[in-house]
Amino acid sequence: SAGGVPVLAVDGPTASGKGTLAAELAHQLGYHLLDSGALYRATALAAQDAGISLEDEPALAELAARLELRFTGHQVFLAGRDITDPLRLESTGGMASRVSVHPAVRKALHALQLSFRRAPGLVADGRDMGTVVFPEADLKVFLTASADARAERRYKQLISKGNSANIDSLRADLQMRDERDKNRAVAPLKPAEDAMLLDNSHLSVEASVEKVLGWWQQRRPF
Ligand code: DC
Repeated sequence: SAGGVPVLAVDGPTASGKGTLAAELAHQLGYHLLDSGALYRATALAAQDAGISLEDEPALAELAARLELRFTGHQVFLAGRDITDPLRLESTGGMASRVSVHPAVRKALHALQLSFRRAPGLVADGRDMGTVVFPEADLKVFLTASADARAERRYKQLISKGNSANIDSLRADLQMRDERDKNRAVAPLKPAEDAMLLDNSHLSVEASVEKVLGWWQQRRPF
């Protein structure tokens, strides 16, 4: 990052474990955390509240530019309302994916994402952290896992929270979201050329964290 505030970018598909990995890395490094998906999710929820169509690019971009988001600990507030639970719903992820195809929405969220880069450092997770938002990141990790592994994890997550879930429909939904995220015209999901690939299908969270911290230490002599 040419002497600036260090950035560690973690990109990857839906339910690849990015969020968990990024949060743990930020915690261990004592860095700030940007969950960029939360910004697209919040925009989708704001659109739903305002009765704005997920196809209405100009109106969505305006909403995104004026998002009144506040992150406090594990809670997220949108214009003063606690959206922590609705933010994490599968249906919200699907709406976020639809909102995120619009270039004007992505542009409207760009500056907000950059503002998370504050000393002593940032761990940023999403789809385009290493390719578009922080192309000069000190380390770019592209996390993958098989569709089966991802569907199973998501299934266990939902069941453990007392929700009902169907593993086949979860797998189908995440594959559909992957396709949309990979094939959109602007900032599609893909590894940066200089990204380190990590397939965590058979790795524990701890093992993934160790692996990435090892790469980080090689990049930045402490
Ligand atoms: O990571 P997530 O599931 O919270 O992301 C929800 C959607 O938001 C994802 O399907 C596509 C979009 N997104 C994006 O386009 N760019 C990002 N950097 C993060 C998320």
